[in-house]
Amino acid sequence: MEVQQIIEWADGLVLIQTGKHLDDLEAAILLGTYQNQKYSEIAAGYNCSEPHVKKVAYLLWKTLSQASGEDINKSNLRSTCQRLQLPTLSNSEEFVAIDAVTQTNSPPPQGDTTPKLYSTESLRRIDRTDIPDGDYFCDRQEEVATLKNWILEDRSNLVSILGISGIGKTALALRLLPEIQDNFDCVIWRSLRTLPSLSSILTYLTQFLPPPNPDIRPLTISYYSTVAEAQNPSHQLAEQLSLVMECFRQHRCLLILDDVQAILNPHNLVGGYKPGYESYRLLFKTIGELSHNSCLIMNSSIMPQEVIELTNNNHRVKCLTLPGLILESAQDILSSASLLDADNWQELMNIYGGNPGFLKIVSRTIKDFFGGSVQQYLANKSILVLPEIKHILDNFWQQLSDLEKQVMGRLSESESGLSMTDLLENINHNSSELLLAVQCLQKRFLVDNIQQEQQTLFTLIPVIREYTRQCR
Ligand SMILES: Nc1ncnc2c1ncn2[C@@H]1O[C@H](COP(=O)(O)OP(=O)(O)OP(=O)(O)O)[C@@H](O)[C@H]1O
Ligand SMILES: [Mg+2]
Repeated sequence: MEVQQIIEWADGLVLIQTGKHLDDLEAAILLGTYQNQKYSEIAAGYNCSEPHVKKVAYLLWKTLSQASGEDINKSNLRSTCQRLQLPTLSNSEEFVAIDAVTQTNSPPPQGDTTPKLYSTESLRRIDRTDIPDGDYFCDRQEEVATLKNWILEDRSNLVSILGISGIGKTALALRLLPEIQDNFDCVIWRSLRTLPSLSSILTYLTQFLPPPNPDIRPLTISYYSTVAEAQNPSHQLAEQLSLVMECFRQHRCLLILDDVQAILNPHNLVGGYKPGYESYRLLFKTIGELSHNSCLIMNSSIMPQEVIELTNNNHRVKCLTLPGLILESAQDILSSASLLDADNWQELMNIYGGNPGFLKIVSRTIKDFFGGSVQQYLANKSILVLPEIKHILDNFWQQLSDLEKQVMGRLSESESGLSMTDLLENINHNSSELLLAVQCLQKRFLVDNIQQEQQTLFTLIPVIREYTRQCR
C-alpha cells in the first residue's frame, strides 16, 4: 500500500512534467530504490543491463526533482517521501483512508496473478492535515440543511461560506463535513492562512487525488490554454489545473479551502488578490464554470469578486452569508460560562450581533471579572470593545480606505441606520466612489443593511459602532 502511494505520487509528477505515465522500468526503479535495492539488483530483476537502469534512473530523478521542486535522488527518496508527508507514508493519523476498498473497479479476473505496479483505482480518502482541532461546537441546523441540499441534491460545484471573523464559518464546515463526506471519493481540507501558492496546492492535489484514467482524453485542455493565456499563468500551472480538473471530472472530490481571505488583497476588493496569488482566480473560475463531479467549499471573511460574478451566472455556484446566532442557539455558549441575569442575555446578543466568536470572548470576561453578572458588565458601555475583539477589528480597520473609514464614522453616529441618500448628503465625495466604498464595507461584512419602508438602511452592529467611535 505504501509503495503504491509512492508510485501514484511519482506517476502524477511525471505526468505533469512529461505528459506521459511512468513506464514499468521506472516504476521498478522507484519500487527497488524505496526498498533499498541496488541498481544491479533492479537490473537483474528486470532482466536488463545495470548501465541502462542507471540511465533511466538518472532521468527519472531529474524529472521528479523538476516537477516537485525538490532535489530527489536514489539516496534521499525515502527521506524525501517522509518529509513531504506523502499520504499514508508517515502521516497516517492525518491521512485516514476511510475505506481503501475499490468502489468503482470490477474485481480482477480470476487467475490473474500479474503483480500490478500501480493502479488507477479510486480510493476513498480524507486528508485531515489542516482540519483544526479544538472546541468547535456548532448547531446551525438550518444552514447545514441548506448546504447539504446544495451539495448533495443540486450537486453544486462551488459553495462559499462567508461572514465576518468569528461568525462560525470554520465551525459550520466542520459540522457539515461528517454529514456529506461519505458521498465523496476524496476529501481534502486546506487552510490558505499560511499563503500556499496555487502551484503547491495543485501539486499536492495531483499527488493525493486518484490519478485520472489515462484512457479518457481530457476534453478541456483547450479551455485552460485559452483562460491561462488570458490570465498569463505559466503553462505548467495550466497543465496542473487541467490534470486536477480531470480528476474532478472522473471522481467525486470535495475540496474545502478555509481562510480564503488570506490570499485576497484587502486594499482592493474589486477582484484583487495579493501579489503572487492572482492565479487562484483561475482555480475558482474553472471550478465554478466547468462541468465536473466535484465540489469546492470556500470559507472567507471577505467576499471574493469571483463569487459575486459566478453566483449570478451559474446555478451550480452558491453562496451562504452567515447571520449571527439567535439567542436560542447561543444559550450553550452563555450558560456554559455560568452567566447570570438571563433577562439581559438578549441585549448581549444584540450588542455582539450574535457572533459566537465574540460571545465566547465576552462570556469568559464576564465570568472572570464580573462574577458572571451580565447586568454589571453592561452597565459600563466603554468596556464593550474588549481587547481581543479590538484586536480582530483592528485588522479590518487597518485595511479600510480613508473614504471607507469616513462612511463607518457616519454610520457610527446613527443607531437606526442611514440610507444611501443620507450618506451622499453627509459625505462630500464623488458619488460613485462613495457607492463603491459602501459595497466594499459590505464585502467585508462590517456593514449590515436592513429594508425599511421601501428604503435600504445601512447599519453597524453596536460593538462595531462603539469601536468606530473610539477610533475616530
Ligand atoms: N453555532 C455555534 N454555536 C456555538 N459556538 C460556535 C458556533 N459557531 C461557531 N462557534 C464558535 O465560535 C468561535 C468562532 O468560530 P469560527 O472559528 O468557526 O469562526 P470563523 O467565521 O471561521 O472565523 P475566522 O474568519 O476568524 O476564521 C469558535 O470557537 C467556534 O467554536
Ligand atoms: Mg475560520
